[in-house]
Amino acid sequence: MAGAQPQAPSQPRTPGGAMLRTLGGIAMLSGLLVVLVYHWTRPIIAENKRIAIEKAIFQVVPGAVTRKNFVLGPEGLFPGDAGKAKGDQVYAAYDRDGRLKGVALEAAATGYQDVIRILYGYDPGCQCVTGIRVLKMAETPGLGDKIARDPDFLANFEALDGRVNAAGDGLEHAIVTVKHGTKSQPWQIDAISGATISSKAVGRMIDASGQRMFPLILRYRDGFERRD
Ligand SMILES: Cc1cc2nc3c(=O)[nH]c(=O)nc-3n(C[C@H](O)[C@H](O)[C@H](O)COP(=O)(O)O)c2cc1C
Repeated sequence: MAGAQPQAPSQPRTPGGAMLRTLGGIAMLSGLLVVLVYHWTRPIIAENKRIAIEKAIFQVVPGAVTRKNFVLGPEGLFPGDAGKAKGDQVYAAYDRDGRLKGVALEAAATGYQDVIRILYGYDPGCQCVTGIRVLKMAETPGLGDKIARDPDFLANFEALDGRVNAAGDGLEHAIVTVKHGTKSQPWQIDAISGATISSKAVGRMIDASGQRMFPLILRYRDGFERRD
Protein backbone atom coordinates (compact mmCIF):
# COMPACT_ATOMS: atom_id res chain seq x y z
CA MET A 1 0.00 0.00 0.00
CA ALA A 2 1.37 3.34 -1.09
CA GLY A 3 2.11 5.76 1.76
CA ALA A 4 0.76 9.32 1.86
CA GLN A 5 2.66 11.62 -0.50
CA PRO A 6 4.59 14.35 1.36
CA GLN A 7 2.84 17.64 0.83
CA ALA A 8 4.92 20.51 -0.55
CA PRO A 9 4.83 23.37 1.95
CA SER A 10 2.32 25.91 0.68
CA GLN A 11 3.85 29.17 -0.56
CA PRO A 12 2.75 32.20 1.47
CA ARG A 13 0.50 34.30 -0.78
CA THR A 14 1.51 37.91 -1.36
CA PRO A 15 -1.34 40.08 -0.18
CA GLY A 16 -2.02 42.22 -3.29
CA GLY A 17 -3.89 44.92 -1.40
CA ALA A 18 -1.11 45.45 1.13
CA MET A 19 1.49 45.58 -1.65
CA LEU A 20 -0.49 48.23 -3.56
CA ARG A 21 -0.96 50.27 -0.40
CA THR A 22 2.79 50.14 0.34
CA LEU A 23 3.79 51.08 -3.21
CA GLY A 24 1.17 53.83 -3.33
CA GLY A 25 2.44 55.19 -0.02
CA ILE A 26 6.05 55.22 -1.24
CA ALA A 27 5.01 56.95 -4.49
CA MET A 28 3.04 59.60 -2.59
CA LEU A 29 5.90 60.19 -0.18
CA SER A 30 8.39 60.51 -3.09
CA GLY A 31 6.09 62.97 -4.88
CA LEU A 32 5.71 65.01 -1.71
CA LEU A 33 9.47 65.07 -1.20
CA VAL A 34 10.05 66.27 -4.80
CA VAL A 35 7.51 69.09 -4.31
CA LEU A 36 9.01 70.06 -0.94
CA VAL A 37 12.58 70.09 -2.27
CA TYR A 38 11.45 72.13 -5.31
CA HIS A 39 9.76 74.75 -3.11
CA TRP A 40 12.66 74.78 -0.66
CA THR A 41 15.37 75.24 -3.33
CA ARG A 42 13.48 77.66 -5.63
CA PRO A 43 14.21 80.84 -3.62
CA ILE A 44 17.82 79.68 -3.05
CA ILE A 45 18.33 79.17 -6.81
CA ALA A 46 16.69 82.55 -7.55
CA GLU A 47 18.92 84.27 -4.97
CA ASN A 48 22.06 82.60 -6.40
CA LYS A 49 21.04 83.74 -9.88
CA ARG A 50 20.51 87.29 -8.61
CA ILE A 51 23.96 87.33 -6.97
CA ALA A 52 25.61 85.92 -10.15
CA ILE A 53 23.93 88.61 -12.28
CA GLU A 54 24.80 91.35 -9.79
CA LYS A 55 28.49 90.37 -9.91
CA ALA A 56 28.49 89.98 -13.69
CA ILE A 57 26.94 93.43 -14.36
CA PHE A 58 30.03 95.23 -13.04
CA GLN A 59 32.31 92.91 -15.03
CA VAL A 60 30.59 93.43 -18.39
CA VAL A 61 30.23 97.19 -17.95
CA PRO A 62 33.75 98.37 -17.00
CA GLY A 63 33.87 101.38 -14.67
CA ALA A 64 30.34 100.85 -13.35
CA VAL A 65 29.77 100.79 -9.58
CA THR A 66 25.98 101.04 -9.21
CA ARG A 67 23.05 99.71 -11.18
CA LYS A 68 19.33 100.15 -11.68
CA ASN A 69 16.88 97.58 -13.09
CA PHE A 70 14.64 98.39 -16.05
CA VAL A 71 12.29 96.58 -18.38
CA LEU A 72 12.81 97.57 -22.01
CA GLY A 73 10.55 96.70 -24.92
CA PRO A 74 8.88 98.21 -27.98
CA GLU A 75 6.34 99.85 -25.68
CA GLY A 76 9.00 101.75 -23.77
CA LEU A 77 11.39 101.77 -20.81
CA PHE A 78 10.05 101.04 -17.33
CA PRO A 79 11.96 101.05 -14.03
CA GLY A 80 11.74 97.76 -12.13
CA ASP A 81 11.74 94.06 -12.78
CA ALA A 82 10.35 91.90 -15.60
CA GLY A 83 6.78 90.82 -15.04
CA LYS A 84 5.62 94.29 -13.99
CA ALA A 85 5.87 95.56 -17.59
CA LYS A 86 6.18 94.03 -21.07
CA GLY A 87 9.74 93.69 -22.34
CA ASP A 88 13.19 92.37 -21.45
CA GLN A 89 14.93 92.78 -18.11
CA VAL A 90 17.97 95.05 -18.53
CA TYR A 91 20.39 96.56 -16.03
CA ALA A 92 21.61 100.13 -16.41
CA ALA A 93 25.08 100.53 -14.89
CA TYR A 94 26.53 103.85 -13.66
CA ASP A 95 29.93 105.19 -12.65
CA ARG A 96 30.76 106.92 -9.34
CA ASP A 97 29.26 110.19 -10.57
CA GLY A 98 25.98 108.54 -11.57
CA ARG A 99 26.74 108.69 -15.30
CA LEU A 100 25.44 105.88 -17.49
CA LYS A 101 28.37 103.61 -18.45
CA GLY A 102 26.38 100.94 -20.20
CA VAL A 103 23.47 98.54 -20.14
CA ALA A 104 23.77 94.84 -19.26
CA LEU A 105 21.47 92.35 -20.96
CA GLU A 106 20.89 88.60 -20.88
CA ALA A 107 21.09 86.46 -24.02
CA ALA A 108 20.84 82.73 -24.69
CA ALA A 109 21.25 80.20 -27.52
CA THR A 110 21.79 76.49 -27.93
CA GLY A 111 25.46 75.48 -27.92
CA TYR A 112 27.06 72.07 -28.51
CA GLN A 113 25.43 70.40 -25.49
CA ASP A 114 22.64 72.61 -24.21
CA VAL A 115 21.49 76.21 -23.82
CA ILE A 116 24.26 78.72 -23.08
CA ARG A 117 23.13 81.79 -21.13
CA ILE A 118 25.23 84.94 -20.85
CA LEU A 119 25.13 88.46 -19.51
CA TYR A 120 26.77 91.05 -21.74
CA GLY A 121 27.30 94.80 -21.65
CA TYR A 122 26.45 97.39 -24.30
CA ASP A 123 27.75 100.95 -24.29
CA PRO A 124 25.36 103.29 -26.19
CA GLY A 125 28.22 105.84 -26.41
CA CYS A 126 30.51 103.74 -28.62
CA GLN A 127 27.58 101.54 -29.72
CA CYS A 128 29.66 98.53 -28.86
CA VAL A 129 29.60 95.43 -26.70
CA THR A 130 31.92 95.86 -23.72
CA GLY A 131 32.14 92.37 -22.21
CA ILE A 132 30.46 89.02 -21.65
CA ARG A 133 30.11 86.62 -18.71
CA VAL A 134 28.73 83.11 -19.04
CA LEU A 135 25.95 82.58 -16.47
CA LYS A 136 25.03 79.00 -17.38
CA MET A 137 26.31 76.34 -19.77
CA ALA A 138 26.89 72.61 -20.11
CA GLU A 139 29.58 72.76 -22.82
CA THR A 140 32.33 70.14 -22.89
CA PRO A 141 35.08 70.77 -20.32
CA GLY A 142 38.31 71.63 -22.13
CA LEU A 143 36.48 72.45 -25.40
CA GLY A 144 33.28 74.49 -25.41
CA ASP A 145 33.64 75.69 -21.84
CA LYS A 146 36.59 77.83 -22.98
CA ILE A 147 34.03 80.46 -24.02
CA ALA A 148 33.89 81.44 -20.33
CA ARG A 149 37.63 81.96 -19.78
CA ASP A 150 39.75 81.94 -22.96
CA PRO A 151 41.38 85.43 -22.85
CA ASP A 152 41.65 85.71 -26.65
CA PHE A 153 37.98 84.80 -27.06
CA LEU A 154 36.87 87.21 -24.33
CA ALA A 155 38.94 89.99 -25.95
CA ASN A 156 36.47 89.84 -28.88
CA PHE A 157 33.92 91.50 -26.64
CA GLU A 158 35.92 94.42 -25.32
CA ALA A 159 34.72 96.72 -28.15
CA LEU A 160 32.60 94.57 -30.47
CA ASP A 161 30.85 96.76 -33.05
CA GLY A 162 27.11 96.96 -32.42
CA ARG A 163 26.24 100.11 -34.35
CA VAL A 164 22.58 100.64 -35.11
CA ASN A 165 21.58 101.16 -38.76
CA ALA A 166 20.29 104.45 -40.21
CA ALA A 167 16.67 103.27 -40.06
CA GLY A 168 17.10 102.57 -36.33
CA ASP A 169 15.53 99.14 -36.60
CA GLY A 170 18.52 96.79 -36.46
CA LEU A 171 22.29 96.60 -36.65
CA GLU A 172 24.46 98.22 -39.30
CA HIS A 173 26.38 94.93 -39.48
CA ALA A 174 25.19 91.57 -38.17
CA ILE A 175 27.41 90.30 -35.36
CA VAL A 176 28.90 87.05 -36.57
CA THR A 177 31.42 84.45 -35.40
CA VAL A 178 34.10 83.56 -37.95
CA LYS A 179 36.52 80.64 -38.06
CA HIS A 180 39.53 81.01 -35.80
CA GLY A 181 42.17 83.32 -37.26
CA THR A 182 39.95 84.90 -39.94
CA LYS A 183 38.44 87.90 -38.07
CA SER A 184 38.88 91.03 -40.19
CA GLN A 185 36.01 93.30 -39.07
CA PRO A 186 35.11 94.87 -35.70
CA TRP A 187 31.66 93.20 -35.72
CA GLN A 188 33.20 89.73 -36.15
CA ILE A 189 34.02 87.29 -33.32
CA ASP A 190 37.11 85.12 -33.71
CA ALA A 191 36.04 81.55 -32.80
CA ILE A 192 37.98 79.27 -30.48
CA SER A 193 39.70 76.52 -32.46
CA GLY A 194 38.04 73.20 -31.56
CA ALA A 195 35.02 74.97 -30.09
CA THR A 196 33.54 76.68 -33.13
CA ILE A 197 30.01 75.50 -32.33
CA SER A 198 30.02 77.04 -28.84
CA SER A 199 31.69 80.21 -30.17
CA LYS A 200 29.03 80.51 -32.89
CA ALA A 201 26.26 80.16 -30.31
CA VAL A 202 27.68 83.18 -28.45
CA GLY A 203 27.75 85.21 -31.69
CA ARG A 204 24.20 84.15 -32.61
CA MET A 205 22.75 85.08 -29.22
CA ILE A 206 24.40 88.54 -29.15
CA ASP A 207 23.32 89.26 -32.71
CA ALA A 208 19.70 88.20 -32.08
CA SER A 209 19.57 90.21 -28.86
CA GLY A 210 21.40 93.22 -30.35
CA GLN A 211 19.23 93.45 -33.48
CA ARG A 212 16.21 93.85 -31.20
CA MET A 213 17.60 95.64 -28.15
CA PHE A 214 20.37 98.04 -29.31
CA PRO A 215 17.95 100.24 -31.31
CA LEU A 216 15.68 100.37 -28.23
CA ILE A 217 18.60 101.24 -25.91
CA LEU A 218 19.51 104.17 -28.17
CA ARG A 219 15.88 105.29 -28.52
CA TYR A 220 15.32 105.32 -24.75
CA ARG A 221 18.87 106.30 -23.76
CA ASP A 222 17.77 109.46 -21.89
CA GLY A 223 15.44 107.40 -19.72
CA PHE A 224 18.39 105.40 -18.39
CA GLU A 225 20.23 108.47 -17.15
CA ARG A 226 20.23 108.41 -13.37
CA ARG A 227 18.05 110.98 -11.64
CA ASP A 228 18.23 109.84 -8.01
C1 LIG B 1 33.18 64.58 -27.29
C2 LIG B 1 33.12 65.86 -28.08
C3 LIG B 1 32.75 67.02 -27.42
C4 LIG B 1 32.69 68.23 -28.12
N1 LIG B 1 32.32 69.36 -27.47
C5 LIG B 1 32.27 70.51 -28.15
C6 LIG B 1 31.91 71.72 -27.48
O1 LIG B 1 31.62 71.78 -26.28
N2 LIG B 1 31.85 72.85 -28.22
C7 LIG B 1 32.15 72.87 -29.56
O2 LIG B 1 32.09 73.94 -30.17
N3 LIG B 1 32.49 71.76 -30.21
C8 LIG B 1 32.57 70.58 -29.54
N4 LIG B 1 32.91 69.44 -30.19
C9 LIG B 1 33.09 69.50 -31.63
C10 LIG B 1 34.50 69.63 -32.04
O3 LIG B 1 35.39 70.08 -31.08
C11 LIG B 1 34.62 70.62 -33.22
O4 LIG B 1 33.46 70.69 -33.94
C12 LIG B 1 35.66 70.14 -34.14
O5 LIG B 1 36.87 70.07 -33.46
C13 LIG B 1 35.77 71.10 -35.33
O6 LIG B 1 36.87 71.93 -35.13
P1 LIG B 1 36.78 73.54 -35.16
O7 LIG B 1 35.97 73.93 -33.99
O8 LIG B 1 38.19 73.98 -35.10
O9 LIG B 1 36.09 73.89 -36.45
C14 LIG B 1 32.98 68.25 -29.50
C15 LIG B 1 33.36 67.07 -30.14
C16 LIG B 1 33.42 65.90 -29.46
C17 LIG B 1 33.82 64.65 -30.18
